[in-house]
Amino acid sequence: MGGGGVGKSAITVRWVHQLFVEKYDPTIEDSYRKTVTVDSVTCTLEVMDTAGTEQFMALHSMYMKSGDGFILVFSLCSMESVSELQNIREQINRVKETQAGRRVPLVLVGNKCDLVSERQVPREVAVGLSRAWGGVPYYETSARKEINIHECFEDICRQMIKA
Ligand code: GTP
Ligand code: MG
Repeated sequence: MGGGGVGKSAITVRWVHQLFVEKYDPTIEDSYRKTVTVDSVTCTLEVMDTAGTEQFMALHSMYMKSGDGFILVFSLCSMESVSELQNIREQINRVKETQAGRRVPLVLVGNKCDLVSERQVPREVAVGLSRAWGGVPYYETSARKEINIHECFEDICRQMIKA
């Protein structure tokens, strides 16, 4: 989950189909499946690629109820996309932690790390956020250059297996 245009679909498609989507086509809702083996446990992940654009966000609380783990994505080129994540995180807390009474598998992702000259979000800001959220793992990714994509899915998978 995360704001519009941060690269949620590009990250998902990169991981599932090993290709980069250049064109920006705002998502309404897409779902993907991929079977992976992590620490010799084989599991099939059902990935919901959600909408970041305001008018399509009505279904968010439903995804939060049914989701077992969340990859929260912002763009390293947009400070605003970081604050958008705060709201999503609070909403997940409300929907989830009261429901289950335990830690929700979460990964924080700063995407578009290849766009070095357009970067707005310093690493320390993101690391600070991940600490404030109780030590949520943080990855800087690039869907374009295929940096850390596999790692963040593997991390969320590992957390869900333990949960
Ligand atoms: P919504 O579906 O509207 O919420 O957007 P989204 O978060 O799914 O963004 P999407 O994946 O569609 O990417 C938006 C634009 O950013 C597209 O033009 C992508 O090609 C581009 N993009 C995504 N990831 C990267 C990246 O890692 N590097 C660069 N340079 N561009 C990226
Ligand atoms: Mg999308």
